[in-house]
Amino acid sequence: MNRRHFLRAMSTVSIAVPILTACGSNGNSKRVPESSKPPAGSPVAVPAVSFAHGVASGDPLDDRVILWTRLTPDEASIESIHVLCEVAEDPAFEHIVLAENLITGPERDYTVKIDAAGLMSERHYWYRFSVGPRQSPVGRALTLPMPGQYAKHLRFAVCSCSSYPHGYFSVYRMIANRTDLDFVLHLGDYIYEYGEGE
Ligand SMILES: [Fe+2]
Repeated sequence: MNRRHFLRAMSTVSIAVPILTACGSNGNSKRVPESSKPPAGSPVAVPAVSFAHGVASGDPLDDRVILWTRLTPDEASIESIHVLCEVAEDPAFEHIVLAENLITGPERDYTVKIDAAGLMSERHYWYRFSVGPRQSPVGRALTLPMPGQYAKHLRFAVCSCSSYPHGYFSVYRMIANRTDLDFVLHLGDYIYEYGEGE
């Protein structure tokens, strides 16, 4: 089992009840109608959550990319939470190409992961998660070129071994604000956390 197959197997654990995946056979996207979203007043309770861990994307192929977030519920005892994941062609989400309803809970530490498929190659997409009226930050992802094709250029930001008590991390904000980067590559440890003076 390679890494992608592993990730895909893991992602199926969290994916439940896809409500709509709209992508035309000719590759043109269709807009997801508002009526396809879970109706207001549905019997499913909508807990209060925040998205304190932000969002992330990675491991792209030419037609898909892994999307991730983690919920922070206001109440620790919540068993399951329905999360809507939306992928759009534009940052304003006027052209949504994928919307899936997912379930997460304490058994996976309220993380959400989806292999968002049916995308076009070498395209930027914007994605977000929502639980009722609470929405995550919007992330931006990029799919790979078709097999046998090559990107015209690739620009990486490289990070390594971040020691939280010893550094300044404004560089992450600077990386996030740049729009000309294709990948953020972490070499070494993602972050070290020590107590004061260690
Ligand atoms: Fe390290």
